[in-house]
Amino acid sequence: MTRFDLEKRFLHGGDYNPDQWLDYPEILEKDLLLMEKAKANTFSLGIFAWSTLEPEEGVFHFEWLDKIMDDIYAAGGNVILATPSGARPSWMSKKYPEVLRTNASREKMIHGGRHNHCFSSPVYREKVAIINKKLVERYGQHPALLMWHISNEYSGHCHCDYCQENFRNWLKEKYQTLGQLNHAWWGPFWSHTITDWAEIESPSPLGETMVHGLNLDWNRFVTDQTIDFFEHEIKDIRQLTPDIPVTTNFMADTYDLIPFQSLDYGKFAKHVDVVSWDCYPAWHNDWETTADLASKVAFINDQYRSFKQKPFLIMESTPSGLNWHDVNKAKRPGMHMLSSMQFIAHGSDSNLYFQWRKSRGSSEKFHGAVVDHDNDENNRVFQDVAQVGEALEKIKEIKGSYKQAKVAIIYDSDNNWALEDAQGFSQASKQYPQTLQKHYRYFWDHDIAVEVITKEHDLAKYDLVIAPMMYSLPEETMNKWQEYVANGGHLVSTYITGYVNENDLTYINGWPAQLQELFGIKVTETDTLYPSDENSVAYMEQKFIAKDYCSLFEVKEAEVLATYGSDFYKDQAAVTKNQVGKGTAYFIGARTQADFLDHFYEEIVQENNLKNNWVVQGNPAVSVQARDFENQSYYFVMNFSEEEKTIEVAEETVDLLTNQSVATNISLKPYEVKVLSPQK
Ligand code: GLA
Ligand code: ZN
Repeated sequence: MTRFDLEKRFLHGGDYNPDQWLDYPEILEKDLLLMEKAKANTFSLGIFAWSTLEPEEGVFHFEWLDKIMDDIYAAGGNVILATPSGARPSWMSKKYPEVLRTNASREKMIHGGRHNHCFSSPVYREKVAIINKKLVERYGQHPALLMWHISNEYSGHCHCDYCQENFRNWLKEKYQTLGQLNHAWWGPFWSHTITDWAEIESPSPLGETMVHGLNLDWNRFVTDQTIDFFEHEIKDIRQLTPDIPVTTNFMADTYDLIPFQSLDYGKFAKHVDVVSWDCYPAWHNDWETTADLASKVAFINDQYRSFKQKPFLIMESTPSGLNWHDVNKAKRPGMHMLSSMQFIAHGSDSNLYFQWRKSRGSSEKFHGAVVDHDNDENNRVFQDVAQVGEALEKIKEIKGSYKQAKVAIIYDSDNNWALEDAQGFSQASKQYPQTLQKHYRYFWDHDIAVEVITKEHDLAKYDLVIAPMMYSLPEETMNKWQEYVANGGHLVSTYITGYVNENDLTYINGWPAQLQELFGIKVTETDTLYPSDENSVAYMEQKFIAKDYCSLFEVKEAEVLATYGSDFYKDQAAVTKNQVGKGTAYFIGARTQADFLDHFYEEIVQENNLKNNWVVQGNPAVSVQARDFENQSYYFVMNFSEEEKTIEVAEETVDLLTNQSVATNISLKPYEVKVLSPQK
């Protein structure tokens, strides 16, 4: 049991940067007063404090941090203490230029920004090890210390000589011989055979970008190297504080709110104790409905929870607007409570903010924060935060509970990289992550819990596994799917599946025999359409639009569920279903729209009893999400619309937020959220 497991409250608070305010003792004192008023209990400290902690090489100043840690503890709060490697002091860049990154065009960066450091640099690693050790020695036993926040939003890559050397060594370990490497990279293509390990260079706009095996390995290397750096950072931390969990804050690819693209978080998650992430949706934007956006936020939360299949943390979010969106709109009344509760509903044990207090200078001075420049609690945003703090106290019994799901969607980073890189199909319409989110949407609309898993996760506990667009599909995964279906699982696959293996080499003899057997079809062609082109599929006596991709196949054993409406493949199979052993394998050959997916999944859900029976009559804009303990479930009922909505549920409940009983007919005001506990 760690201190975090024993913590009986949801974490509420966020990034606190007192190092920016050391010349203003009255501000620091005010912070302590305001924390109580905001019902904030947890602060992430020191994330960008290196230049304050070590203003000169080897000269350390901890007294300010001692005081803040003590003060927070005395006020009943927790600290998530950061290692400061996300940005380093300028003296270090000046004295040891090797710590700076070299970009893909082989240009050496100069000091500036953050995350501008080489993960391989021996000097950088040494400096990080020194400061991290000092922190763990000094604060490892501090009673306020709840968790370690390792660095900040790891990202990016470096192409310096050290990194090239590490990349080559990584490749040597993977391939052993150049023969094997050349085979995987399809060496003779454009005369690219490598004859000496020293010839290998990371992908660069000045050189190589067309060798797909190289690109894929580089992406994998960057993840492994980032993890290696993370492991380096936590060496002493693990040894000296084995009971304090470590995390590092993950991201999403923002604006679009799809999973983060450049690191394989599924792999990274195995190295952290608790997954945490920073979520910044553009609420009230002018290109999608609130429900559209809410379903994407839900998807990523489900994904990041599913990595470790246990509660995660929201490490950063904003109480109001941001500073880096194109338009930084304020949250409308009600949205802060709703969006905060949505995190909890999907399994977060926190709602933490960036940041506690708006800074006075530099680029984040207008980023939403709990404490505004008015330095006062009597404003709308602060009051919204305080209300969330109060709500989290009222529902604290839910902390630590899990979410059960019988439906899983597979998101695979390797596949995403390989597919993005593939030249063919249509660059603009591939949209792998977005496609997964579209499939997810049916389940979100119908309040059916989903896990978003990697291809490594065990499939046995799911009744339905959805794996769209698995362009890159290792044989091992095909075998796993085969076994899953034979044992009674239901699997859905789609167009652009099973083209290449784990090295991005196409399968010899076309569509793999295992897939032919599993789906009872043989895919022979994939037609890519222009954006203005359209086909249709006829399914259950209705016609649905098909766009972008239509795969053609020979039908072997499978039952044909839908056929194409036009073009040279008119009347040929478009969607199939195949019985294998005790299970079923479905194949959707065309990219359809939400209307088709609704009908298609409705059938599967009915047939296999996957419906959420607690919701008698739902509404697509009202999301119902449960969190469960063994003998108790809690229901979050959230209205993601600007109108009043009504749903009907199976039993009477008590709303933990108001302590009032709630009948089975529930009506919700715009943006209203209820947290319901069935009456015992
Ligand atoms: C990221 C960073 C924070 C801050 C916020 C602003 O999530 O981790 O330090 O810059 O963005 O949204
Ligand atoms: Zn480097």
